Amino acid sequence: MTLTAEITGWGKCMPPNVLSNHDLEQIVDTSDEWITTRTGIKERRISHVEASELAAVACHRALAAAGKTPEDVDLLLVATCSGDSIIPSTASVVQKHLQAWNAAAMDLNAACSGFVYGLEVGTNMIKSGAYKTVLVVGTEKLHHLIDFTDRTTCVLFGDGAGAVVLEPTEGPAGVLASDLGMDGSVGHILEVPVDGTAGDRGPIDPRLSGISMEGQEVFRRAVTKMGESSALALEKAGLSLEDVDLLIPHQANIRIIDATARRLGVDESKVYVNIHSYGNTSAATIPVALTEALEEGRIQPGDIVVFTAFGGGLTWASSVVRWGDRVTPLGESDVELPPPDRDTMELLQPNFDFFGRPEKQA
Ligand code: UT7
Repeated sequence: MTLTAEITGWGKCMPPNVLSNHDLEQIVDTSDEWITTRTGIKERRISHVEASELAAVACHRALAAAGKTPEDVDLLLVATCSGDSIIPSTASVVQKHLQAWNAAAMDLNAACSGFVYGLEVGTNMIKSGAYKTVLVVGTEKLHHLIDFTDRTTCVLFGDGAGAVVLEPTEGPAGVLASDLGMDGSVGHILEVPVDGTAGDRGPIDPRLSGISMEGQEVFRRAVTKMGESSALALEKAGLSLEDVDLLIPHQANIRIIDATARRLGVDESKVYVNIHSYGNTSAATIPVALTEALEEGRIQPGDIVVFTAFGGGLTWASSVVRWGDRVTPLGESDVELPPPDRDTMELLQPNFDFFGRPEKQA
């Protein structure tokens, strides 16, 4: 038996405000029919709080599920590309919300692959013997980066957070193997052009502060890489595709998910999908989907679960997990978000003011 990490707690935090396809029809020249057939998305959530607060609630829930307290955490990894600030890190703010004063904490930006990257980092920190209770959280307030004058991106993204607790185990359950990758040569095909120190100071075109994407090119690469990377991670784990009980892919587009499953030869009954409810929440999609899969009884003790993701960078990441004996939480947290003081359209008003009024709001 070798030391690895087991997922012993899980939790999510989805902000309550909903932005439906029908709401989007009132903002831009789009239709429920186009969005549903091209992406699988029906609605997404718009957060009234920062990514750190979403993360903290998801972490409280994951810790309760593992029977742990914030004081038990010795490492906190926050995967995000829409965090509160660069300094302090979002991890610093999450630590403060949680009062997890014994935790080392840092941000990790691998965009939509961030949670799976975090899972691999956390697992290896546990394997080193130096850390015993690791929180990995994917959290996003992506709507802040959305230009609603661009109908090709504004229908895709949403906000939310999901977290897991990792603890040491000598198996047979645990994170068995992973595959991580990056192709920086094509980083520009999915970017927020002006959101860092590169570039000139002074007045900038606000539209360069939003997400821009060559959708078809990202689509093509996502299908290829998620397939290849899942197969590689399974091979490293000494397993084959027939061993997979549940594939939990990054939720960016139902057509990417279906094409990836087809490429791999995994039956759709073994693929977890919740994109219709939340859209693409980047680093949060996989831990949120994992939490819902457990809540719905889709994971049984000993199951082989595969996570696979693709995103900005361009990054990709896959992980193979053998689930442990426990598929129900040990406890529940009573921590909740504060109720929203604005409706969804009011929350989007700053975007309209900054990026420019979308055609139907002009
Ligand atoms: O998380 C990882 C990163 N993101 C992704 O993985 C996303 C990858 N890409 C995609 O999911 C898809 O490429 C999109 C959903 C972004 C776009 O779907 P598509 O099937 O590739 O559409 P398209 O870009 O080829 O556009 C087809 C048509 C165009 O009209 P014309 O030129 O054929 O007249 C677009 O202008 O659809 C039009 N269109 C829309 N129509 C209504 C684009 N966006 C919309 C919209 N509503 N929201």
